[in-house]
Amino acid sequence: MEKDIERILIEESQIQKKVKELADRISKDYRNGNILLIGILKGSVIFMSDLSRNLDLNAEFEFMDVSSYGNNTYSSGNIRINYDVKYDVGNKDILIVEDIIDTGRTLNKIIEVLNSKNPNSLRIATLLDKPDRRKVNIDISYKGFEIPNEFVVGYGLDYAGKYRNLPYIAVLKEKIYQN
Ligand code: IMP
Ligand code: MG
Repeated sequence: MEKDIERILIEESQIQKKVKELADRISKDYRNGNILLIGILKGSVIFMSDLSRNLDLNAEFEFMDVSSYGNNTYSSGNIRINYDVKYDVGNKDILIVEDIIDTGRTLNKIIEVLNSKNPNSLRIATLLDKPDRRKVNIDISYKGFEIPNEFVVGYGLDYAGKYRNLPYIAVLKEKIYQN
């Protein structure tokens, strides 16, 4: 994998430090001691597992799987729910855990679906934010890093299904994206 990397954007140690900071803030904010983490598959899995292990809260786990059809380096806005939460979230304090917010279309749809289930509260945590590309306004409570408009991989994020298990965030060599 390493040979496909152009450069590292965020080092492993920076990510781990940031994840702990976010977890501390979240632990302080959820004073009743309970939280329902809803991870958006598959990109959020690594962030959610590190974040949750740093929370001083009773955390329950749920997942949603959504896909947007179209090109694989941007989302089209046509979002399909492949796997929804099975659980009654009516009296839960939900924290959506996302890897990256780009146009905001994916999350906008997820928020709409979850709000229709009348949770007690609903907030967003994202590791990465690409604000330049936003098409739909999203209120982000917990944000790791803002990044420029570049396609990144690692720490859960993939290109064509690969590179998710890199411990840092990186940009791939141009020729990989052209294949
Ligand atoms: P949005 O609907 O445009 O906000 O797209 C968000 C989704 O697109 C994320 O959950 C990712 O799955 C994917 N995505 C957006 N930018 C990147 C990137 O730079 N690398 C990997 N996946 C990305
Ligand atoms: Mg995603």
